[in-house]
Amino acid sequence: MFEDKTVLTGVKPTGTPHLGNYMAVISPAIKIGSTAKNHYMFIADYHAINAEKDPAVLRQKCQEIACGYLACGLNPDHSVFYRQSDVPEILEFTTILYAYTPKGFMNKAHAYKAFVDKNRAAQKPDDDGINMGLYTYPVLMASDILSFDTDVVPVGKDQVQHVEIARDIAGIINAHYNREILHLPEYYLKENIAIIPGVDGRKMSKSYDNVIPLFADDATIKKAVYSIKTDSRSLEEPKDPDSVLVYQIYKAVASDEQVKEMADGLQQGKLGYGHIKAMLLEAIVNLVKEPREKYNYYMAHFDEVEGMLQNGAAKARPIARRTLDRLKDAVFGR
Ligand code: TRP
Repeated sequence: MFEDKTVLTGVKPTGTPHLGNYMAVISPAIKIGSTAKNHYMFIADYHAINAEKDPAVLRQKCQEIACGYLACGLNPDHSVFYRQSDVPEILEFTTILYAYTPKGFMNKAHAYKAFVDKNRAAQKPDDDGINMGLYTYPVLMASDILSFDTDVVPVGKDQVQHVEIARDIAGIINAHYNREILHLPEYYLKENIAIIPGVDGRKMSKSYDNVIPLFADDATIKKAVYSIKTDSRSLEEPKDPDSVLVYQIYKAVASDEQVKEMADGLQQGKLGYGHIKAMLLEAIVNLVKEPREKYNYYMAHFDEVEGMLQNGAAKARPIARRTLDRLKDAVFGR
């Protein structure tokens, strides 16, 4: 699908990925990247410092996310895999973009507006807790994207606007110099990605404390699976499968055949909640077995991962440098 394209994926270092992250974000990102002509994949640690000021926590989260992607199949020989902070060219680029970015673009950015709304709802001053990193983060994100002449940025809905801002900034610069200095990126909205419910039925999310872990041991996964909400309907009562939370999660992790078996059993009143939880547990344990082993290995041998990230940065920097030089030549009339 993207065989002739340059695709770029940025991930926030959010810590140990859970099943919902894996199904909705990690797995699709790796799949898209593997089909692209060029794939850049980076850990957005400069974005992370806007919110996280504890270096130990930050380092841990970056390690976990790096190991998580590698464990789930990211191939660092194909994808240029780096930490944003190891590619300083992106920051120089950002500074130039500032001069061409209307301040109004930042005022209307969703992430910033959401923060202001939260402050207002809590009757705090609009700018409470908002630092310049958060306010200007669409410019840094534009730089992430434009530095690599990216064709396509796969995103969830919440990031569409940020890619549009990147495109608009590039458009302003190109229009000013009347030639294509920066390549205009497009977003690719990953549609029909199932939102995986958590054990309480809300979207699976660390902030709801309802996740099924991906890299934990069997006992921990079991505990999460057996805490999935059920109701008091009897085993024999025929059930619409989609009204059963365990089934909704099963659909995301099991094969079509397995899903059909569970659906039939529920409709015919032949499977109870104990049965289907055991089926779900087995499917999840199967799914995570191999990535979990790899994850534990990489976490215990982070020096190897560090080497891969350094390697990635060494590949990324000359590309970013080339784009930066092109921009500087235009801006400074060299
Ligand atoms: N802002 C993105 C997020 O919150 C992460 C990100 C940073 C990103 N820079 C990017 C994503 C560049 C795509 C391209 O998830």
